[in-house]
Amino acid sequence: MHKKLVVANWKMNGLSADISAMLACLQKDASILNQIDLCLCVPAVFLNSMAFLSKKLPISWGAQNLSDKAEGAFTGEISAAMLCDVGCRYVIVGHSERRQYYGENNQWVAKKWLAARQSRLTPILCVGERLEEHEKGETLAVVLAQLDAVLNLASSQDFAATVIAYEPVWAIGTGLTPTTNEVLSVHTALRAHLIKQYDSATSQTVRLLYGGSLKADNAAQLLTLANVDGGLIGGASLQYDTFAPIYKALI
Ligand code: 13P
Repeated sequence: MHKKLVVANWKMNGLSADISAMLACLQKDASILNQIDLCLCVPAVFLNSMAFLSKKLPISWGAQNLSDKAEGAFTGEISAAMLCDVGCRYVIVGHSERRQYYGENNQWVAKKWLAARQSRLTPILCVGERLEEHEKGETLAVVLAQLDAVLNLASSQDFAATVIAYEPVWAIGTGLTPTTNEVLSVHTALRAHLIKQYDSATSQTVRLLYGGSLKADNAAQLLTLANVDGGLIGGASLQYDTFAPIYKALI
């Protein structure tokens, strides 16, 4: 059995003072944090100071994006090796905001995923359907196609111990969430798909997160479903008072 994985995605929010304030609050919960895996995905400019700021807290940190290239003349890009160098353990890949605003398609996301994996990073692959796809009953087709683009490039060894986050696009920042049955059915399908592609043992090493409008009042219900191994949290992760009740609901 894995520990539950709770990932905060701060997106383009917060300054160094906000990170210091969050970490000071997390210090109080050190014994709780030992029972889960908690990762803060803060803006990239702050990653370099996380090792110093986190003061031996039992947490990890990660980036929200990376380049598919290893190095070179790619102005503004950040490589997997650079993220490793500043102590990142995780990197979010293919978040719907990257897909929507920066044109990342399944193939590009898959290349980024592989770049992360070829370093020592654990990619958190985001999959999820848009509202119109949800309404047309295309959820499973969409998320499995997003997953397949990566599976086509990855051996079972590559894929083992990575993370997939199911984030319905229409649930992000809207206060809307799928029903527990909808989450259950997507997560069960993701697990079954991994078993079909690889095998049961490999599939069990992969943690499946749910993300989208997670709050204190829905965390216990959504994050304890079968095949839900944790959560990816946006807005509610920015403040300790809204974040802590989410991970405390998992203890
Ligand atoms: P919210 O928790 O704000 O809905 O964001 C979810 C998300 O996009 C996390 O990656």
